[in-house]
Amino acid sequence: MKKPFVAGNWKMNIGLSEGVDLVEELKNSLSDYKYVEIVVIPPFTHLYLIKKKLDGTNIKLGAQNLHWEDKGAFTGEISPLMLKEIGCSYVIIGHSERRKYFGESDEIVNKKSKIALHHGIIPIICIGETIEERENGATFKVIEKQLRVAISGFNKEDIMKVVVAYEPVWAIGTGKNATPEQAEEAHSFIRSILREMFGIEESNCVIIIYGGSVTMDNSYSLLKMENVDGFLVGGASLKGDSFTGIVKNGLKAWLERGGKSC
Ligand code: PGA
Repeated sequence: MKKPFVAGNWKMNIGLSEGVDLVEELKNSLSDYKYVEIVVIPPFTHLYLIKKKLDGTNIKLGAQNLHWEDKGAFTGEISPLMLKEIGCSYVIIGHSERRKYFGESDEIVNKKSKIALHHGIIPIICIGETIEERENGATFKVIEKQLRVAISGFNKEDIMKVVVAYEPVWAIGTGKNATPEQAEEAHSFIRSILREMFGIEESNCVIIIYGGSVTMDNSYSLLKMENVDGFLVGGASLKGDSFTGIVKNGLKAWLERGGKSC
């Protein structure tokens, strides 16, 4: 049985000492939540120390990016081996901010996801449409292309490890989350593509999370949806009480709907 998944993407916010304080708070408030896969995703400079603070707890560590080569002359980049050595379990790939500001293409997302899996780091692959694409009726077309290229060359074993994050760009950092129905529509579409590519059992096992203005107030109704398996949280992950509230309310909804049959 898979657990619901809640990850906090700190982005380029909060310094090291604030990050350590936040993690200490989360260690206390979330220690009973063993039935949720909880992940914190700080900036690179915090990873080593935060991993030390998380050792022996139920909270896992993720990174916000990686390079697709193991090593070499890539000034300013971070290798998957470096993340592995520190103890990162997850890595975000293809966040819309990376696509928009750093030119990451679907092909780069594919290369990065492959190298992450190769080294045993689970990629959280982000896909999602802009507001213009939604208004033009292109939502499904856009997310289908992003998904198919991101996971091209993956086999059944690979896909069952991956986390897919549906993050409509218009919902990120805007305070305007997708409604539970909009999220469910996109998630069930994503799962139908995975079903067609890999089979029914495999597609049911893939964790598909939602991201975009998730708060402790909307996490319950979003996680009530059949194909929403958790969250990638930005702004609301920077405060202990709001991140904890998302985990608690989300788990309540998850249990009420009977969990996930995988
Ligand atoms: P937000 O960010 O929760 O602040 O909207 C989500 C994300 O970028 O993953």
